[in-house]
Amino acid sequence: MKITFYGHASLGIEVGGKHIIVDPFITGNPAAAAIDLRELKADYILLTHAHADHVLDVEAIAKLHSAVVIVSNAEIASHYAKKGFNAHPMNHGGSWKFDFGKVKYVNAIHSSSFPDGTYGGNPGGFVIESEHKNIYIAGDTALTMDMKLIPIRTKLDLAILPIGNNFTMDVEDAIIASDFVECDKILGYHFDTFGYIEINHEEAIKKFFDKGKDLMLLEIGESIEL
Ligand code: NI
Ligand code: MN
Repeated sequence: MKITFYGHASLGIEVGGKHIIVDPFITGNPAAAAIDLRELKADYILLTHAHADHVLDVEAIAKLHSAVVIVSNAEIASHYAKKGFNAHPMNHGGSWKFDFGKVKYVNAIHSSSFPDGTYGGNPGGFVIESEHKNIYIAGDTALTMDMKLIPIRTKLDLAILPIGNNFTMDVEDAIIASDFVECDKILGYHFDTFGYIEINHEEAIKKFFDKGKDLMLLEIGESIEL
């Protein structure tokens, strides 16, 4: 499994021969100017919630890849299905076996309206089990006790957690979240993009390190292999 950071909360996942894009917000992020949407491969787009900083480039990517399947909560899926895109609706606690692996839509504490104010269902995160590697993509969320449910069913190899504070967990809460999901390997995201969520990288890495945990902060365009 290969995971590429495209800035903010945008990820590319290569797994089982498929390409997954998560929460594409690239053209709206000056820091991600080097990423060219037309060069991204996409068989699936996973969306945690409907906020603009997570869905901005969904339609542009879907238009470049006519077979792409948009996977999200029922409201977001039907929003895109009505526009003629392929969509797979899910809801909290449900999972589905796709051709690349199993995806479960899990709780997040946040909000989820589209940029025009229409209802975007309830926000979530994803647990992906594939190629004997399991990852948790938390989405935008507060620290929540529901995270403790995840390791009951799934032994995680990586937890992707928001650490930017203000709209989501801060570093300290993300450390507790990594305890809750029982995973000491963390990829931080949702930081630095806007003034509200700028963080000190060295300080964040040290805080995780002091608790025996490994926080990775990737450059935009950088990848890790699991
Ligand atoms: Ni959000
Ligand atoms: Mn966000």
